[in-house]
Amino acid sequence: MTDETSTTAVKKLFIKTYGCQMNVYDSQRMAEAMGAEGYVLTEDQAQADMVLLNTCHIREKAAEKLYSDLGRLKTLKADRPDMKIGVAGCVAQAEGEEIIRRMPLVDLVVGPQTYHRLPAMVRGEAPRIVTDFPEEDKFDHLPAPRATRRAPAAFLTVQEGCDKFCAFCVVPYTRGAEVSRPVERILREARDLVSRGVREITLLGQNVNGWHGAGEDGREWGFGRLIRALGDIDGLDRIRYTTSHPNDMADDLIEAHRDVPQLMPYLHLPVQSGSDRILKAMNRKHTSDQYLRLIDRIRAARPDIMLTSDFIVGFPGETDQDHADTLRLIEQVGFGSAFSFKYSPRPGTPAYERPEIDAAIADARLQELQALLTRQQKDAQAAMVGRTLGVLFEKTGRIAGQMVGKSDYLHSVFVEAPDARIGDLAQVRIVESAPNSLRGALVA
Ligand code: SAH
Ligand code: SF4
Ligand code: F3S
Repeated sequence: MTDETSTTAVKKLFIKTYGCQMNVYDSQRMAEAMGAEGYVLTEDQAQADMVLLNTCHIREKAAEKLYSDLGRLKTLKADRPDMKIGVAGCVAQAEGEEIIRRMPLVDLVVGPQTYHRLPAMVRGEAPRIVTDFPEEDKFDHLPAPRATRRAPAAFLTVQEGCDKFCAFCVVPYTRGAEVSRPVERILREARDLVSRGVREITLLGQNVNGWHGAGEDGREWGFGRLIRALGDIDGLDRIRYTTSHPNDMADDLIEAHRDVPQLMPYLHLPVQSGSDRILKAMNRKHTSDQYLRLIDRIRAARPDIMLTSDFIVGFPGETDQDHADTLRLIEQVGFGSAFSFKYSPRPGTPAYERPEIDAAIADARLQELQALLTRQQKDAQAAMVGRTLGVLFEKTGRIAGQMVGKSDYLHSVFVEAPDARIGDLAQVRIVESAPNSLRGALVA
């Protein structure tokens, strides 16, 4: 068989996803929208009739990945001129037609708020570049989400965009203003996922705990109330959410951590820096002390909660003292894990024009901070040994009879469980901590 497209109506779509979980969710939605057009997903880029790159603009390196990948696609497209290449996501939003100017092999560019128009664009019934922020809700125009490949854990976007305008961040520009999806849609999508075998849902939003909406009881609901409503869904065993802003940790959300057993004892609450000067320059709108007091309140509500964070090292103006303040905050909180990044100046953001600090100093600080965080991660994992935790099996391991799943704390756990199936939620006693995973034994 030489040309598959000429023998069958089925077309193949290859999607590469960069960046955050929101992009993972969006890629699934785009796959479904294209499915309705007769496209099926392929893992093999060389076989694809269409290659879609769902991009991230958060740091310079992330954005540059797109261009190196496009460079590599040139030969493939030269061999197969019919192949369509689409760029979606946050680079598409930020750079628009510049992408086609730089890389003429790109056929279409679609922003994160307009990807419901992708099928029309592919049919040639819409412009090649669609990056506006439409009034209409893209979710209204997409086919109902499906739990793909029997995965027991799924993402559900409840909120998009960001109004916080941290001085370093592109998200308010690439994703637009904060929008909350309506309660009834979220609950319907959650029930639908559960009816298809999903047992764990991670609620997504760039600023997810800022979610609010008119509730089923006619009152204004906050995010904590939404979580309580999700907790009433039979068969939904685990609820998570990401990413949160400290200033939106309302009382009702903290109380949900105390009251809703399905809400996992895990919270990603980025602080970025422990220096009040730098927090102010970043426009984070809270101090390190306010963050620490917030952590105290969260831990009072849910003593066994594990906290994780993001850090930016080498923000413009950061001194040794600022860096020391960040290390102290990390010591004080004790994080289960964290992401840390060297500051990357992003065009269009307020911090872009500010003088950068010495790169070697920033590198050294990043290493020091990561060493501390790695130590804390190891300690947090070691503290799991001897505990009995829920583990949701997501796949089989490499060894026969082995299952791999996620603990309540999102650690990967390897368990010998020959009779178990994917989607089982087992009680597991943790027996060993490895560098990036745990080993456990089934509890009878
Ligand atoms: N909405 C989330 C995070 C979104 S971006 C929040 O407010 O925490 C994910 C992480 O990327 C951020 O937490 C930050 O640590 C990092 N980041 C964002 N912009 C960056 C930049 N210009 N340089 C380096 N890291 C950055
Ligand atoms: Fe970016 Fe700040 Fe918004 Fe997070 S809260 S998405 S870091 S602007
Ligand atoms: Fe990247 Fe856009 Fe997510 S910039 S981190 S893909 S919101």
